[in-house]
Amino acid sequence: MAKPSTRHVCQSCGYVSVRWLGRCPSCGEWNSFVEETLQKSSGGVRAPFQSVAKPIGEWSKEDSARVGTGFANLDAALGGGLVPGQVVLIAGQPGIGKSTLLLQVSDRFSGKVLYVSGEESGTQIAVRGSRLGIGKRDIVIYPETNLERIEEVLESNDPDLLVLDSVQTIYSDKLESSSGSVSQVREVAYRITEICKSKGLPVFIVGQITKEGNIAGPKVLEHIVDTVLQFEGERFNFYRVVKVVKNRFGSTGEVAVFKMGDRGLEEVEEPSAFFISERRSSPGSVVFPHTEGSKPILLEVQALVLPALYTTPQRKTQGFDVNRLSLILAILEKEANIFTRDSDVFVNVAGGLTVKEPAVDLAVAVAIASSKKDSKVWEDLVVFGELGLGGEVRAVHFGDIRLKEAKRFGFKRAIVPKGAEMGVEGMEVFSVSSVGEVVDLLF
Ligand code: TYD
Ligand code: MG
Repeated sequence: MAKPSTRHVCQSCGYVSVRWLGRCPSCGEWNSFVEETLQKSSGGVRAPFQSVAKPIGEWSKEDSARVGTGFANLDAALGGGLVPGQVVLIAGQPGIGKSTLLLQVSDRFSGKVLYVSGEESGTQIAVRGSRLGIGKRDIVIYPETNLERIEEVLESNDPDLLVLDSVQTIYSDKLESSSGSVSQVREVAYRITEICKSKGLPVFIVGQITKEGNIAGPKVLEHIVDTVLQFEGERFNFYRVVKVVKNRFGSTGEVAVFKMGDRGLEEVEEPSAFFISERRSSPGSVVFPHTEGSKPILLEVQALVLPALYTTPQRKTQGFDVNRLSLILAILEKEANIFTRDSDVFVNVAGGLTVKEPAVDLAVAVAIASSKKDSKVWEDLVVFGELGLGGEVRAVHFGDIRLKEAKRFGFKRAIVPKGAEMGVEGMEVFSVSSVGEVVDLLF
């Protein structure tokens, strides 16, 4: 018998090599290669489903056939609910609440739901369900990890919504690699996508996230699905944020905020009020109106600057990129005479949300300057703008949306980038062009 041929696949990005490699040349990950037996099925690159050609008007009918998830904020973030056949990946760290959310969605969903669990037993889910006060008969729980058997039950059960919890636990007989490997994850996602597209059945696929914050298994998963939801929050804090990071049927950057309580997740209707509720106006605290989509959220950016404890000063962040912090410290030194090279600097986005948009730069810079100078900023102030290397403040998107939200919560002054003319009645807006100007204005 011929020796089965094998290949080595990077478990982080899906890069394939004939030999084992210590470091992936594609994504740079160390020790990520796993030997996998070459798959028997077609696999590889192929169209995920058979589509049809039809006039644009008929496609738009599909969009209007959206169905609700039972959570108004989640529906809004998705662009108005689920489209028939929509494949939604919901990614997040273990224990964050993915299964809880999907069980609640299953309960509130208007049609028949098939909940496939490869992680927990039926009893475990039932116990969670009774804790959540869920008892709807229509949720069918199917604890199973074999893809072929899941396909059979899907065929006979014919649900209106499918939940697959989680993609990493499900395996196909057609491949010899173990569940959770890149080949398996890809195969499962392809086959489920194929079925759901042909039936017009919407599906939530749960994806676990690695410590580094990547979706465990491959990036390829993100390419297969229509929508990627990122579940964020601190495990020991009660708020949870679902962020839309990819959406073929709506805009990205949308968020839905929840509160985790004794009876599961509850919608938070006023996220801004929620995130700034614990704010104490003190040196190092600045309010930043965050938005990457239509929904703005006021966030508190906190900085703490103090004499370095060790010879190498520390730079630590939570919810903000630490490399970006180094850059901002360098800009503050060069352009605003704020010296922190002998100081430890800590930056935190209160509430634990991770902010990636560059508009937060200026708020971070102001928070650092405020802590360094031990001087509070105006209590009714919000700040936003991107920082360039020369200390220039650059324009950002959604200025008006940000200002309106700030005004709604009683903020009366704003420092914003010059250029884009914006103004909201009843608010004093300072348009600035450099970080030096901001520091002169405030301190
Ligand atoms: P879970 O949904 O199991 O997380 P995931 O599927 O993302 O791994 O999250 C469970 C966590 O949430 C667990 O730490 C307990 C907590 N929890 C509550 O606080 N209240 C509740 O009503 C439920 C069901 C869970
Ligand atoms: Mg779970």
